[in-house]
Amino acid sequence: MQNSTTIGFIGAGNMAYALISGLIRNGFNAQNIKLSDTDADLLFQRQAEFNLEVFTDNTELASQCDVIVFAVKPQILSIVCRELQTHIDHQPLMISIAAGVRSTDINRWLGGDTAIVRSMPNTPALLGKGATGMMANSTVSDEQKILAEQVLGAVSECLWVEDEKMLDAVTALSGSGPAYFFLMIESMTKAGVALGLDEKTAEQLSIQTALGASMMASKGEDSAHELRAKVTSPNGTTQAAIESFQDQNFEMIVSHAMRAAFDRAREMGSELGDND
Ligand SMILES: NC(=O)c1ccc[n+]([C@@H]2O[C@H](COP(=O)([O-])OP(=O)(O)OC[C@H]3O[C@@H](n4cnc5c(N)ncnc54)[C@H](OP(=O)(O)O)[C@@H]3O)[C@@H](O)[C@H]2O)c1
Repeated sequence: MQNSTTIGFIGAGNMAYALISGLIRNGFNAQNIKLSDTDADLLFQRQAEFNLEVFTDNTELASQCDVIVFAVKPQILSIVCRELQTHIDHQPLMISIAAGVRSTDINRWLGGDTAIVRSMPNTPALLGKGATGMMANSTVSDEQKILAEQVLGAVSECLWVEDEKMLDAVTALSGSGPAYFFLMIESMTKAGVALGLDEKTAEQLSIQTALGASMMASKGEDSAHELRAKVTSPNGTTQAAIESFQDQNFEMIVSHAMRAAFDRAREMGSELGDND
C-alpha cells in the first residue's frame, strides 16, 4: 500500500482500534489515517494515542479519503451510508466490517455504483490473530482488492469468497467460531474439575492445550486429521475419548450448530437490509 493512501475509519470503537494499531504496527503512516465518531471523548483518546486526524462529522472525513472503513454497529450503517451519498464523488473504496449487512444494501444506501468490499472479521482480530472472509462487488478494481487485503490483513488472515452468500458460511465458521472453542475450553475445564483437578489448574491446562494444538495445526505440515491420528495410539487414552465423542456423533453436533449459525446469518442479513 502506498503510504500516501488515505484511510478513514467511521466508528472509533474496538475494531477500528485494532485495525489502526495493526496498520501502524505494519509501518503505515498515522498522518494518513483519519477517524470519525459521534463520541468526542473517545476521538480525543484515539488522537492522543495515535496522533491522527479526527472528525465528529463523517462526511468531512469521507470527502478526504481513498478508503473508508465502516466500523460502526450494523444497525447504524444505513444512517451512516445515507449521509455520505453526496460526499463520495471521488469514488473511494468502501470496506464494511459490519456483521450481516449485505453489499447490495450498502451500495443502495450509498446511492449505487460504489466499490464495496464486505468483510467478516472475528474477535481474535483484536489481538492481531483474526481470520477474515471478504467479498468484493463488481465495481472493486484489482488494486482496490489489494488495498482491502492490506487493511484487514493488518490484524488477520484474509480469504476471499466469490459469492456474497458464502459470507454467511464464513460467519458460521470463523465469525462465530471463537465461541465454539471457548465452549470447548469451558467444557474441558468443567470435566477436568469433575475428575478431581482444581479449577485453575484445569482451566490453564485446557487453554494451553487449545493454543498448542492450534499452533501445531497452523504449521500446515500435517492436516488436522493426520495430527489426530498421530496422537491417537491404538487402545490408548486418546482413542477411548475419541470413540466416546464419535459415539455421541460429534461431527453431527458441530454440523447442526454451524447450520443454525448460517441460517441466523441469512435471516439477520434480511432484517438489516429491510432497515430502509
Ligand atoms: N468486535 C469484534 O470482535 C467484531 C468482529 C467482527 C465484526 N465486528 C463488526 O465491527 C463493527 C464495529 O464493532 P466494534 O466492536 O468496534 O463496535 P464499537 O466498539 O461499538 O464501536 C462502534 C463505534 O461507532 C460509534 N458510532 C455510533 N454511531 C456513529 C455514527 N453515526 N457515526 C460514527 N460513529 C458512530 C460508536 O459510538 P457509541 O458507542 O457512542 O454509539 C462506537 O464508538 C460492528 O459492525 C461489528 O459487527 C466486530
